[in-house]
Amino acid sequence: MKTILIKNGRVIDPGSNLDRIADILIVDGVVKEIKKNIVKKPSYEAIDARKKIVTPGFIDMHTHLREPGREDEETILTGTKAACKGGFTSVVCMANTDPPIDDVGIVRLIFRCAEEAGFAKVYPVGAVSKGLKGEELAEIGDLYRAGIVAVSDDGMPVTNSEIMRRALEYTNMFDIPVISHCEDRFLCERGVMNEGYTSTRLGLEGIPSVSEVIMVARNIILAEYTKGRVHIAHVSTAESVNLIRDAKKRKVKVTAETAPHYFTLTDELVESFDTNLRVNPPLRSKEDLSAIVEGLKDGTIDVIATDHAPHTKAEKEVEFDAAPTGMIGLEIALGLILTQLIEKSHLTLPKAISKITLNPSSILKIKGGIIKLGEMADITIFDPEFEWECNPNEFESKSKNTPFKGWKMKGRVEYVIVSGRIVLKDGKIIV
Ligand code: DOR
Repeated sequence: MKTILIKNGRVIDPGSNLDRIADILIVDGVVKEIKKNIVKKPSYEAIDARKKIVTPGFIDMHTHLREPGREDEETILTGTKAACKGGFTSVVCMANTDPPIDDVGIVRLIFRCAEEAGFAKVYPVGAVSKGLKGEELAEIGDLYRAGIVAVSDDGMPVTNSEIMRRALEYTNMFDIPVISHCEDRFLCERGVMNEGYTSTRLGLEGIPSVSEVIMVARNIILAEYTKGRVHIAHVSTAESVNLIRDAKKRKVKVTAETAPHYFTLTDELVESFDTNLRVNPPLRSKEDLSAIVEGLKDGTIDVIATDHAPHTKAEKEVEFDAAPTGMIGLEIALGLILTQLIEKSHLTLPKAISKITLNPSSILKIKGGIIKLGEMADITIFDPEFEWECNPNEFESKSKNTPFKGWKMKGRVEYVIVSGRIVLKDGKIIV
């Protein structure tokens, strides 16, 4: 393995409280030195990181890789390539594959495909319930031993409170979180967008914010009761942020994430009927968006995760209310963090970086998220000033379902190093 020397970058590593110009030497895949003026030897692969940001490899704790079952939408190969392009050295893949990740055979298959692909590391999430049906707990112990890092029925809520209670109790034995897709399906049965002025005007069935909030409240109560760990996925409403903030004050073991689209877009945009705007939970109001930003600022929301949800062109080229929910996010996350949070001075760069490195790794207790001497090097280098226009045809992801086409973005990922191996160089995937 080549020795890599990263020269003169601004190293931002919230996990070791580092924010300064330094060089990093990687020998045999392992971080050997972090200091100024490391002398370059001819055998080294040197990376000039001047004016660039050097961080721990990003971790996306909410990705849909679709394999097995929907390889027409995404595969582990294309999804992990997209991850690397976006600066992610690790992705946590959701259980709503077909068949779902409720069986150790599927976990093993995912690990094997990820290893063959050789790009980002893949950490599978196991199902809470068999077949994601919400009726009977999956074999969580077996799945844990096979390597899952959390359980979730994401895409589907766990409606039955008894199942949720048992999931929290059971996962507590392994100290892994239940990632909760909070949605009361009875409250939003036929809903396709946020319930509000725009849904009324457009004549589209609404999804009230309370359908999320009621489940956030229930799950916090159950986490408090069981002392289990609940992680609230894709937070979209102001009331959810308030509940999580209060619960954290009471030391309930609750953590939370939001996705870039919830701090960028609002429901008024659905006027365009662009089906790429159809997501679950739906885009909410301006007030909700501001509360999400506040939650990110004060630490109520620990993590920014993409909820990368690929769907084919054919699936999305239908009427708004017939379209499947979801948008891709791996290759735009950094651009939106920089333009929507950093440029608008909502977050500092170190704080934003902690939400895609240190925080997900601590919640999931996975390696990475930090640049540590003696540890395998998962490192991302990006140019924060580089301007680009979003063109989904240039994406590595198999699906192109994004409403951000044509948007001006900032920040290009230049290098990605996974376990000491360069997989992205000068912004291009190395095959
Ligand atoms: O918009 C979404 N799409 N939300 C989810 O919870 C699931 C996801 C998917 O799997 O497409």
